[in-house]
Amino acid sequence: MKKIIIANWKMQLDVAESSKQAKEIKALITKAKIDKSTEIVIAPSFLAFDAVAKAIKRSRLKLAAQDAFIEDKGAFTGEISLSDLKKLGCEYVIVGHSERRALGETDKIVNQKVKAVLKIGLTPIICVGETYDDRRENKQDFVVMHQVYQALHNIDPGSDQNIIIAYEPVWVIGTGQTINPKEAHHMSMVIHQAIIDISERHHIDNIDIIYGGSVAPDNVHEFTKLRSIKGALVGNASLAADKFVKLIKNS
Ligand code: PGA
Repeated sequence: MKKIIIANWKMQLDVAESSKQAKEIKALITKAKIDKSTEIVIAPSFLAFDAVAKAIKRSRLKLAAQDAFIEDKGAFTGEISLSDLKKLGCEYVIVGHSERRALGETDKIVNQKVKAVLKIGLTPIICVGETYDDRRENKQDFVVMHQVYQALHNIDPGSDQNIIIAYEPVWVIGTGQTINPKEAHHMSMVIHQAIIDISERHHIDNIDIIYGGSVAPDNVHEFTKLRSIKGALVGNASLAADKFVKLIKNS
């Protein structure tokens, strides 16, 4: 797969701000002549989804959802339908972000969501990563492998299905500190091994690993230059259009 840079706007921008920001990114990307081989994805809030979809129409920018529900339709008060998202132009879905896991999303739910996302023909971006305590106790390899096994339980992607796994050490998200790129490389090798362990159909080339956690314009290349890392999931540094476009250029 080509390199991918994903902006996760979380709950940081309102509808008007999201639409304005999307238009600015669209204009700056065109001016900056970013290499066509880089996939650029925006994950707006659900309320801003339609406005952002309209703002980026006829551009190379793609849309991701920050989450979604496992069912398409029915009596599920407050949930978000994958087929509705697809109709609005969504192509990727973030699943199991650490901020959602902190609110109670379990490995089992993550697995159900990954299955639902693949079934409807979208690409899941599965977030995995250890907490500070896990790392202090030197359990990060085990924790991340376990998360990958659970997320991909009974899932073997077909040749036409893609999966992205975002390695995000929970303890650096939003802190302005990244981990040593060598450590990110090590963890992506751990993830890669976990994928090989459970993959039967051997379409492991359809599963890509990216890095997330305080990625910024001045450190992004340290990660994307690694053979094992295909891109970045970006929170804070995606909240200003010029900064985000600089980050993409530097990647
Ligand atoms: P951050 O967020 O770039 O602000 O650390 C990353 C994420 O939460 O995916």
